[in-house]
Amino acid sequence: MATDKSAHKFSDDAAVIAFVSAHSDRLDLSAQPSVEEIGDGNINYVYRVRDHRGFSLIVKQALPYIRIIGEGWPLSLDRIRIEAEVLLSEACWAPHQVPELLHYSPADAAILMEDVGDHQNLRHAMIERREFAGLGQQIGGFLAATLFHTSDFFLGSQEKKAQLASFINPDLCGISEEVYFIDPFCDHERNRVNPLLLEDARNIWADEGLRADVAELKYGFMNRTEALIHGDLHTGSIFVRDGSIKIIDPEFAFCGPVGFDLGTVLANFLLNYSAQLGLSGHADERTRYQRYLLQQLRELWHCFSQAFLELAEQKSKDPGLASVQWRQRKMADFFADMLGYAGVEMMRRTLGIAHVADLEEIADERLRADSERLSLRLACLLITRRRELSDIEALLEEVQALQA
Ligand SMILES: Nc1ncnc2c1ncn2[C@@H]1O[C@H](COP(=O)(O)OP(=O)(O)OP(=O)(O)O)[C@@H](O)[C@H]1O
Ligand SMILES: [Mg+2]
Repeated sequence: MATDKSAHKFSDDAAVIAFVSAHSDRLDLSAQPSVEEIGDGNINYVYRVRDHRGFSLIVKQALPYIRIIGEGWPLSLDRIRIEAEVLLSEACWAPHQVPELLHYSPADAAILMEDVGDHQNLRHAMIERREFAGLGQQIGGFLAATLFHTSDFFLGSQEKKAQLASFINPDLCGISEEVYFIDPFCDHERNRVNPLLLEDARNIWADEGLRADVAELKYGFMNRTEALIHGDLHTGSIFVRDGSIKIIDPEFAFCGPVGFDLGTVLANFLLNYSAQLGLSGHADERTRYQRYLLQQLRELWHCFSQAFLELAEQKSKDPGLASVQWRQRKMADFFADMLGYAGVEMMRRTLGIAHVADLEEIADERLRADSERLSLRLACLLITRRRELSDIEALLEEVQALQA
């Protein structure tokens, strides 16, 4: 039931339709439009409004708390402003790779956007073992374009600081600080651990060296304001079809470390890689898909690093950051951060509160434990050896060696 705090919630389908009608003329709403609540996420309300011709738009509304928990977990409405502004920024630098934003209404805490339903959720596509040529390149290109143009490589000093102020996102960063960097590394009541994995989990919780590495990554997450990052770039935020990707849901965005977005993508590819051990289907098919995943990661990194360095060469204005040698060093830092944050994401998706369908899909608990164990081992490798593994080939070799 609506309370004062959430009085802005659309009360019924007619209210959602009125919102669309007030802010866009793309739909013909004169004859029986349909409204469907499609949100499969945890946090907000998402509706698809379709007209009699089959054209549709998406409405996303934030309430001052987490949808699936209720008023017990309050959350600032500023997240929907951040989502709207980040969609606009991303559209500038990576046109056609995000849903077009048609309207943002602070009063309704809602946005109206393009329906990207002609694309498939990448997590679901990976569980079905669907292959898309050029997927890694497209994600790498998106990351290079959005991260470069919101970093000090491109923005003027004043502009960068204004961006920093505009995207302070304390509530959502607060969630990430806890669910990524604290819960999975201790016996937290929010965790969900497969009972067959308890011993592995206890070893992780007792590992002091690992704790120090995770503390360093957490401190970087809280202090390294390198670029406007998406902040939640798991495979459920990436929609895909042949030759095209659409990135949704940037409500966790803030100015943070470049390696965090790269790492979240890497982790979710490796979570699916781990799940392939236990998912149904012929062994050959599953092994072939694992090779495909590694090839996409190879292309992603090459495309990201080349595109970022080229942009730096062509468009950087700050003479103080012009050293080619230093830029190479910075790229090595991004790589090490990518590995570290990927490890943290894999840990939290295996031991923490929010698991992934790739692993959950494995009904047999023992088979699932094998996949989850591979995920934990990869996570430890990524976190503890992030500076030693000097390039993508070294990483991919280690991944394959560890599975063997
Ligand atoms: N622009 C869009 N076009 C088509 N479908 C969309 C669009 N935006 C969201 N969706 C659908 O709604 C679902 C939930 O959207 P989204 O992830 O933005 O919501 P959320 O409440 O922020 O979720 P989360 O808990 O993951 O943060 C998506 O998985 C997708 O199926
Ligand atoms: Mg979200």
